[in-house]
Amino acid sequence: MPSVIVTGCSRSTGFGQLIAKALAAAGFDVFATLRKVERAAELASWAAQHKVSLHTLEHDVTDPRQNRRVAEHVVSKTGSIDALVNNVGVSSFGALETLHDAHIRWAMETNFFSAVDMTRAVLPHMREQQRGRIVFVTSVAGVTGVPGESIYCASKFALEGLAEALAMETARFGIDVSTVRPGFFNTGMSAQNTDASKFFRTATPYDDFNNRVVRSTAEGESNGEDPGLVAQTVLAALTANPARLRWHAGEAAPEIVKQRSAMGDEAWRKYVMAELGMSDWLEPVQVSA
Ligand SMILES: NC(=O)c1ccc[n+]([C@@H]2O[C@H](COP(=O)([O-])OP(=O)(O)OC[C@H]3O[C@@H](n4cnc5c(N)ncnc54)[C@H](OP(=O)(O)O)[C@@H]3O)[C@@H](O)[C@H]2O)c1
Repeated sequence: MPSVIVTGCSRSTGFGQLIAKALAAAGFDVFATLRKVERAAELASWAAQHKVSLHTLEHDVTDPRQNRRVAEHVVSKTGSIDALVNNVGVSSFGALETLHDAHIRWAMETNFFSAVDMTRAVLPHMREQQRGRIVFVTSVAGVTGVPGESIYCASKFALEGLAEALAMETARFGIDVSTVRPGFFNTGMSAQNTDASKFFRTATPYDDFNNRVVRSTAEGESNGEDPGLVAQTVLAALTANPARLRWHAGEAAPEIVKQRSAMGDEAWRKYVMAELGMSDWLEPVQVSA
């Protein structure tokens, strides 16, 4: 039974739990990690009810010691780490100039540096065993810029570049790397952030912009696709033979990526801003002295 670590499994509507359940149902020995242990009970009872191999571990991915402890725990229990799914991610929105410094560092730390560190925690084990699969849950925001999500995009673009380069470093050790790019899914991810003041300052020339971004993010999420599709895509990425670098989850993602590569930068900018009802933000304004 191949072992797999899935990070960020705290929420029943989030990708993490759905991925953990889909992999357990497909016969993986799943180690679902989450930082809020009080949320583990639901997953554990689901596993018992479905008679699958799914264990929960307390894990904050921003702590390098915990990343190594999780990797070593899985090796000690199963003898190997066959796969890692770096699913943890936080949303970030607000015009760059208005974001709090601490918010920028927190978002990059959680979305990028933690996935880097967790990957480095499993790599020595996978290299020694001469096999392994690593999946990064990125986003279409790792392929195209989204206005008001510059830091989120930066973190996901960074993961896309990392994965492409890493795949070339580890192929000779039998380690395959993939990214799974979801489009818009109704997981309630952004709806959790009810206090936008934690992200950005108000009373700036960007107030109207930020308000519209908050609204369009909430709308995009509530009209999103079924998150179960992402879980099925991760399962496909982990079981495909041969492995493939890039996967798109759902219907919107491949369309968006196709359109982005077909359009020039200027045409794309106009198209995205029009889609978001923000074309007026491309018009110059008079700045009073
Ligand atoms: N929803 C979408 O439309 C969408 C689209 C594209 C990509 N994605 C990506 O998909 C992934 C999952 O997102 P989701 O939509 O399923 O939202 P989610 O349920 O909020 O998933 C994020 C998970 O990360 C966990 N997490 C955050 N910081 C952590 C930390 N320091 N240590 C451990 N766990 C931590 C959260 O746990 P807590 O409950 O403890 O905060 C939560 O379980 C993210 O990488 C996201 O960027 C989502």
